[in-house]
Amino acid sequence: MSEIAPKTLVQQQFGANAAAYATSAVHAKGASLARLVELVKPGKDWAALDIATGAGHTALAFAPHVREVIASDLTPEMLDEAAKLAASKGYANMTTAAADAEKLPFPDARFDLVTCRIAPHHFPDIPAFIRESRRVLKPGGTFALVDNVSPDEATTAGFPSAELASAADAYNAFEKKRDPSHGRALTTAEWTRDIAAAGLQLVHTEHAPKAMDFATWCKTMKVPEATVVELRAMLTGAKGAFAAFLKPTFDGDKIGFTLDELIAIARKPA
Ligand SMILES: C[S@@+](CC[C@H](N)C(=O)[O-])C[C@H]1O[C@@H](n2cnc3c(N)ncnc32)[C@H](O)[C@@H]1O
Repeated sequence: MSEIAPKTLVQQQFGANAAAYATSAVHAKGASLARLVELVKPGKDWAALDIATGAGHTALAFAPHVREVIASDLTPEMLDEAAKLAASKGYANMTTAAADAEKLPFPDARFDLVTCRIAPHHFPDIPAFIRESRRVLKPGGTFALVDNVSPDEATTAGFPSAELASAADAYNAFEKKRDPSHGRALTTAEWTRDIAAAGLQLVHTEHAPKAMDFATWCKTMKVPEATVVELRAMLTGAKGAFAAFLKPTFDGDKIGFTLDELIAIARKPA
């Protein structure tokens, strides 16, 4: 049987679960949204592009602060959700566009701001996404990223590097079991390297831990019960750096764990 291409998998997974992302608390109300606006300090006359917008929550957070924002995504059903939310809030300056993060259909130097939140871990070629972001930014423009990271020294200090590398593999396997369209979450060190390699200047990084409810996390992607059982076993069996990273908690039937978001702000040289 031939393997399904990564971008087809993304469209299948998110196409089938688009409505859940419109209301998902982690996406609609996550602390990194307000923090991103605070760190970016958008200008009233800015043109902004949100890449892999999902149900549009990041574009919606910036819409009141900029002249225009284009909410772009690979999955048409997600763009429909984003357009519905923009209309319900009366944001006439927010439009949607079909776009692959790795091959943006926009001219060079079109935007003052490019945002991308909780999505690059789905992209097969993250360096291509960063290079495209740089290309469509004006000189001096801002690249603002939020993504779940894999464990390394920055999130989970005090473990040997080989154990951290195994924990990163275990974390990505955990995500991929829940959502087959998950590619790989980079570590903080890998993001720092790839942002610099694309010719952007990193001006700020910080980490935001995110408390996750296991049942809700499974429900958002309609995970089949047999897979829920396997995921639960991965949490109950977590040890060492993997356990230190995910910090699973068990309270009767209620299971929680923690993910770590990296917030990174970079500039295109003027
Ligand atoms: C978790 S959702 C994004 C959440 C959203 N950015 C927010 O702040 O709420 C991930 C999105 O990435 C999109 N996506 C995945 N791969 C993509 C690619 N190569 N290009 C554009 N969008 C992509 C999916 O269609 C999905 O809508």
